Amino acid sequence: MIYENLLIEQDGHLITVTINRPKALNALNGATMLELQHFFGTELPGSSGVAGVILTGAGDRAFVAGADIKEFLGLQGNSGQDMAQRGQDIFSLIERSAVPIIAVVNGFALGGGCELAMACHMRVATEQARFGQPEVNLGIIPGYGGTQRLVQYIGKSKAIELLLTGDMLNAEEAYRLGLLNYVTTAEEAMAKAREIIDKIATKGPIAVDKVIESVNAYFQHDADGFQTEVEAFGVVTQTADFKEGAQAFIEKRAANFRGE
Ligand code: COA
Repeated sequence: MIYENLLIEQDGHLITVTINRPKALNALNGATMLELQHFFGTELPGSSGVAGVILTGAGDRAFVAGADIKEFLGLQGNSGQDMAQRGQDIFSLIERSAVPIIAVVNGFALGGGCELAMACHMRVATEQARFGQPEVNLGIIPGYGGTQRLVQYIGKSKAIELLLTGDMLNAEEAYRLGLLNYVTTAEEAMAKAREIIDKIATKGPIAVDKVIESVNAYFQHDADGFQTEVEAFGVVTQTADFKEGAQAFIEKRAANFRGE
């Protein structure tokens, strides 16, 4: 696929995906959503040797300022429900990715932008970042998982306040409430995310995948997280990576994981 709204760069085991619509504050129009679907649903699962992805927004004003409001005007009948379902399916691809995805939030993360950041496995924000679900200002509600994931991260009291008022959180508040992993200066954010991915790159890829699957199961109403963990443990203990990891520990050397 030729991407028109995403910039994709690979540097060793790290892929950086930049949503590139800075004039619209990187708002998620339908075309950008399709490109995200293709990258996270087809291209990334098909690539080997990738230890992590950084997802960020072009320019210094926004990560993503939401779904594209200008496209909302075309919604008719039940097309809003279809749009939300498609969006949730795409963000689930991100949340369920076997390769960890870190959002580097470099400005506004509003509406679909906040939802996108929350679908990622971790969030590193710059001091300028702002988070919110301002959909009520438009007379609608979040449709890409915002009412669910915001509660998961920051708890019901604060989440319902933000969802009902449309107020924004600054980076410090978002960090204090548990939405963020790190807050850094604008200059340091990408390096911080890279540092995390470099660390994960030294671990067994199957174990990384199974950690993500097991943690996600905690929040799935149709899954038993403890049972998922038991089954995942059964899988990782049968891998060559596990033998290598245990052997390396005993021999007091770094493990050489091969994802097998
Ligand atoms: N969808 C489509 N276009 C958007 C957008 C969105 N979600 N958010 C910003 N833009 C566009 C603006 O229309 C504007 O385009 P224009 O120059 O062609 O008029 C451009 O991005 C810059 O935005 P602007 O509003 O002029 O910048 P600002 O600094 O005054 O305000 C925000 C920044 C983020 C506070 C403001 O743009 C905003 O509130 N955006 C909508 C956020 C939102 O409600 N998101 C949830 C949608 S469901």
